[in-house]
Amino acid sequence: MLHQESQRIWIGSCEDKTPVYLLPSMANRHGLIAGATGTGKTVSLKVLAEGFSDLGVPVFLSDIKSDLSGMVSPGTETDAINRRLDMCGVPKEQFQYTSYPTEYWDVYGEQGIPIRATVEDMGPLLMSRMLNLNETQSGVMNIAFRVAAREDLPLEHLQDLKNLLIHVGENAREYTLEYGNVSAASVGAIQRAVGVLEDQGGDVFFREPAIDINDWIQTDPADGRGKINILCADRLFNNPTMYSTFLLWMLTKLYELLPERGDAEKPKIVFFFDEAHLLFNNCSRPLMEKIEQVVRLVRSKGVGVYFITQNPADIPMTILGQLGNRIQHALRAYTPLDQKAVKVAAQTFRTNPSFDTEEAITTLKTGEALVSFLDEHGAPGVVERATILPPQSFMGPISEEIRRMIISSSPLKGKYDDESDPAGDPGAQEQPTPPVPPVPKVPSAPQVQEMDPQRFKLINGQWYYF
Ligand SMILES: Nc1ncnc2c1ncn2[C@@H]1O[C@H](COP(=O)(O)OP(=O)(O)O)[C@@H](O)[C@H]1O
Ligand SMILES: [Mg+2]
Repeated sequence: MLHQESQRIWIGSCEDKTPVYLLPSMANRHGLIAGATGTGKTVSLKVLAEGFSDLGVPVFLSDIKSDLSGMVSPGTETDAINRRLDMCGVPKEQFQYTSYPTEYWDVYGEQGIPIRATVEDMGPLLMSRMLNLNETQSGVMNIAFRVAAREDLPLEHLQDLKNLLIHVGENAREYTLEYGNVSAASVGAIQRAVGVLEDQGGDVFFREPAIDINDWIQTDPADGRGKINILCADRLFNNPTMYSTFLLWMLTKLYELLPERGDAEKPKIVFFFDEAHLLFNNCSRPLMEKIEQVVRLVRSKGVGVYFITQNPADIPMTILGQLGNRIQHALRAYTPLDQKAVKVAAQTFRTNPSFDTEEAITTLKTGEALVSFLDEHGAPGVVERATILPPQSFMGPISEEIRRMIISSSPLKGKYDDESDPAGDPGAQEQPTPPVPPVPKVPSAPQVQEMDPQRFKLINGQWYYF
């Protein structure tokens, strides 16, 4: 939530109830949310995302377990949450259970608005990663893209890529002289990999119309809050390479298309990357360099990137060093290897004389974290031990029925449909929502299983539960 006087993002409070804030002007200096499973990472992410939205900053989140989807509906009051609010020193009247302007996206077009790209748009580096190509094969892929550009060959669908590879294979001798070795074996291996990608449903992604990133950078017309874009990634996540490549592509897209902007009072969009360690698995050197470069430079375009992972050691040092805002939840320290990881995590913080960082990391409770954010000069703040605030929106998934209803009424519904793709219109079977008279905000929704879709109403572009 926003701290009322300072308009900073209030993430949690120290034991003496001193608030811990994230400065909006430093939010594009990236961040890290780390901690073992079940320690509170997703909830911390939610609290941050809500804060950005309140500031009018849209966010993009990848949702692997569907536990972010509930942000479309208000949270529920419980004794545990009331106790937490007390511990954090949040005046009860300032804490509103509320829904957020949410848009669901899905690469497969099943659980959200489809996100599509062309093969050309993906580029040879990411395409090679998606296809798990080795260095030699990636080299051939690179040549194929150059041939397509020079000869003005179409490169939208996977079929175009297959045709291109045949063309390159047939004229291998000519291209070898000009660009370097193009062997039949490499071309064949790439063709096979494209076939596997097609079998995995990868062709659904390479269709028109391609995404317009401005659709991610939206605010709610009714109240100016930033849109919460949720990438429904449970199916995508079954293929970790595809998942990480896809998110990387989205980030690259923002980097390529957004104009340079100097220091600003708040970011233009914030991107949260869950299970971030996957990004660096099987990463070729050129791709690694590209990731480092994108993360470093995207900042000046007003894009903040927040990685969520179990252990800071999962992130290469060159990237870790660029993540200025840190939230470290508990880590286990059973084995010597665990203990080493705790040490490494502790060393990334500016010490606080009032406690031992290393010991704190292993004794943090659920929803408690070590927090260090950048100060107004861009220097890391002294680490604080903080109880994280509860989110204002619903903690948990929404039902399939409600999801469909929300997708059907999205202003983007239909915009990215592909006539040839039956999955491209996820809300197709739904009845339109009946018009409803304007009614004031109503506090909270019950648990998922009790939610009645009939009681969700769309008023001025925002969903309310009655
Ligand atoms: N800040 C918080 N406020 C309220 N409950 C929390 C908070 N942090 C964690 N919890 C509780 O702990 C559970 C696990 O947290 P979660 O964020 O899903 O862990 P992780 O993402 O690290 O696996 C949540 O479902 C919630 O019940
Ligand atoms: Mg989680």
